[in-house]
Amino acid sequence: MRPNGTEASAETTRYHVQAATSDDLAALVQMQMALQESMGGVGANMLHLGRRSTVRLVDHYQRQIADDQTRVLVACDVPSAEVVAMGSGRIWVHAEYVPARSGELVDIWVDPDHRRRGLAGRIARRLVRFFRARRVEFLSVNYVSSNAAAEALWKGIGFHPTLITATAERRTVEAFAGMETQRIVPVGYRAAMGDEQVRASLNLLG
Ligand SMILES: CC(C)(COP(=O)(O)OP(=O)(O)OC[C@H]1O[C@@H](n2cnc3c(N)ncnc32)[C@H](O)[C@@H]1OP(=O)(O)O)[C@@H](O)C(=O)NCCC(=O)NCCS
Repeated sequence: MRPNGTEASAETTRYHVQAATSDDLAALVQMQMALQESMGGVGANMLHLGRRSTVRLVDHYQRQIADDQTRVLVACDVPSAEVVAMGSGRIWVHAEYVPARSGELVDIWVDPDHRRRGLAGRIARRLVRFFRARRVEFLSVNYVSSNAAAEALWKGIGFHPTLITATAERRTVEAFAGMETQRIVPVGYRAAMGDEQVRASLNLLG
């Protein structure tokens, strides 16, 4: 999105941003895998999809596309007819909290060859319209703190970082905290022990 909210018209006509359909499943899976890969690239120590989970991505996106509380968008490059970007908006209901509903922007990805042409901004605006139509007032997005492009994108449209998720390997914390590190009892060995012994081992390890 340009700072004044306008888009370059040539770029606007070159790309179509539209709701994803089952025809886009393969492209969505590929982009999700590229997104996961890029998270490694920004040097983040964080949870990410295991290799075996990628086979379930087709089901995942099929459900997301059919879900009334989610909007999955793709951007198509008209000249090549290729899907080159994606982004989703998901409505969460959490009745115990205020506000009771929130909107999350997730899985925003633009193919490297098509970046800095306003696509992420266009996708974000379409998702905001989806949230507005559902009267969702509170929005959030997660991004890795070292991801300068994401930070600039989100700050540029009014998001302010409020929560920090800090991550560490347990062994690193143990070392810093001056804790004695203990060898973990292998699961097979634990299973072979009686209940009493298992509890004792867990206490020792905990
Ligand atoms: C972050 C990402 C989605 C941006 O997509 P994009 O289509 O290039 O973004 P836009 O062209 O809409 O840029 C909008 C604004 O974001 C900021 N921005 C985007 N990329 C930037 C970069 N590499 N460096 C600095 N600012 C950047 C700029 O302010 C830009 O406005 P401008 O071009 O008028 O200066 C894209 O780089 C990407 O897919 N990265 C890998 C996946 C990822 O990080 N996703 C976000 C996770 S929340």
